[in-house]
Amino acid sequence: MTASVLQINAERLHRRIADLGAVGAIEGGGCARLALTDADRAGRDLVCGWMRELGLSVSVDAIGNAVGVRAGRGNGPAVMTGSHIDTVRTGGRYDGNLGVLAGLEVIASLNDAGIETEHPLAVAFFTNEEGARFAPDMMGSLVFTGALPLAEALQTQGIDGSTVGAELARIGYAGSAPTPAAAPHAFVELHVEQGPVLDREGIEIGVVESVQGISWTEIEILGTSNHAGTTPMALRRDAGWAAGSIINFVRELAQEFGGDQVATVGRIEFFPNLVNVVPNRAVLTVDLRNTDEALLQRAEAQLAAHLDALRDAEKVDINTRTLARFAPVPFAPAMCDRIERHARVQGLRTRRMPSGAGHDAQMLAAVCPTAMIFVPSVDGISHNVREFTHPQHIEAGANVLLAVLCELAGTVPPAGEPA
Ligand code: GLV
Ligand code: MN
Ligand code: MN
Repeated sequence: MTASVLQINAERLHRRIADLGAVGAIEGGGCARLALTDADRAGRDLVCGWMRELGLSVSVDAIGNAVGVRAGRGNGPAVMTGSHIDTVRTGGRYDGNLGVLAGLEVIASLNDAGIETEHPLAVAFFTNEEGARFAPDMMGSLVFTGALPLAEALQTQGIDGSTVGAELARIGYAGSAPTPAAAPHAFVELHVEQGPVLDREGIEIGVVESVQGISWTEIEILGTSNHAGTTPMALRRDAGWAAGSIINFVRELAQEFGGDQVATVGRIEFFPNLVNVVPNRAVLTVDLRNTDEALLQRAEAQLAAHLDALRDAEKVDINTRTLARFAPVPFAPAMCDRIERHARVQGLRTRRMPSGAGHDAQMLAAVCPTAMIFVPSVDGISHNVREFTHPQHIEAGANVLLAVLCELAGTVPPAGEPA
C-alpha cells in the first residue's frame, strides 16, 4: 500500500477516544481531567502506554509535556502533531484529545502499512492547555517553545492553592527532557472547531488561518462587609454590586464592538458569601478575545476605565492581575494551502477560518511552520459534556492529518512498492 491511498482505521481511533473519555468520566458523557489532577495522571498513563505499544520512544520534559517519537530514515527535526489531554472541569471528550489520539492513529496506520518517513514523526500532548486550574492556558507549549520560563511556570499557583511544580511531582510527570525543546520541522494540530461555523455551513474541514488574541484578567474588589438590613444603600462599599456591574459592562462592550469581540466572566467568588451580609470582597475573571489586536487593546482600555469609575462610584479598592495575554497568531500560509489541498483531494469541503479558542499550535507557530485542521462541533457546543463531533467528521479530519503529515515527513513506501 502506498502512502497516497493510506487511510486511518476509524474504528481503532473511536475506541481510543472512548477509552480515554472513560478516564475522569462525568455524567452526561463528558470528562473532568483538570491539569495535574489524579484524573489527568490516569489519562497520561493511558496515552503514554499507547505510545509505547506503538513503538514510540517517549520522553517527558520538566513541565510534563509528553512526546512520542517514531524514528525517521534521517536525523532531521521531527514533524510533530498533537494537542492536549487535560480538560476543563465540565469538558467533552474531543477537545484536545482528538488531536493527540488522531496523531497516534496516524502512527498506527503507518506501522500497519510498513511505511517509513524521512523525518521522524512525533506525537505530543502538552501540559495544562486549558488553563482552568492554573493560568496561563497553553502553559506546556509556552515552556516547550521558550516563551515562558520553566521556573515561572512551576511556581504558578492554581485556583485551589496548589502549585504546578508540586502537582507535577506528585503525579510523577516532572520529567527530565530539556525545555525549551528543539524546534520541530513543522507542527499540525487537528482539533474540533468548538464553535458553530462548520456545522451550520455543512463543511467538513476548517483550514485554520489564525488564532484570535486572548486577554484574561483576574479582578479583586475590596469593599466593606456590613449588615444587609441596616446599611443604607448610599453608605455601602459593596464588592458584590461592583462585580455585577463588571459582568454587565463586558457584555455591553462586546455588543457595542460587534465583529469578533467576545467577553466572558466565567469565575466569580463572593466573601463572606452569606445572604444577609454585604460582600466585602469579590474575585472574578474577565476573558476578552478579538481577532484584531488593536480592538482587543481598546476593549482592555475600556474595561480599565470602567474599573476606575467603579472605584469612584462605590469607593471600593480594585486590584487586577493578568492571567494570560496572547496577541492574535497567524499560521503559515503554505501550511494552510497544504491542508486545503489534501482535504480537497479527499473530496472534502473546506473553509478558511480563524480559531476562537486558544490552542497549543499558536505557541508552536513561533518556532516552526504551523497550521491547524478543524472538524465540526455539533451545534458549536464545547467546554460542555454535550460536546460532540460526528464519527465521519473525525475520520475525515484524521485522514487529512495523515496525508499532511506524510507529505511533510516524506514517506518511504515498503520495499517493492511504487512511491
Ligand atoms: C482553551 O480552551 C481556551 O480557553 O481557548
Ligand atoms: Mn483544546
Ligand atoms: Mn478547551
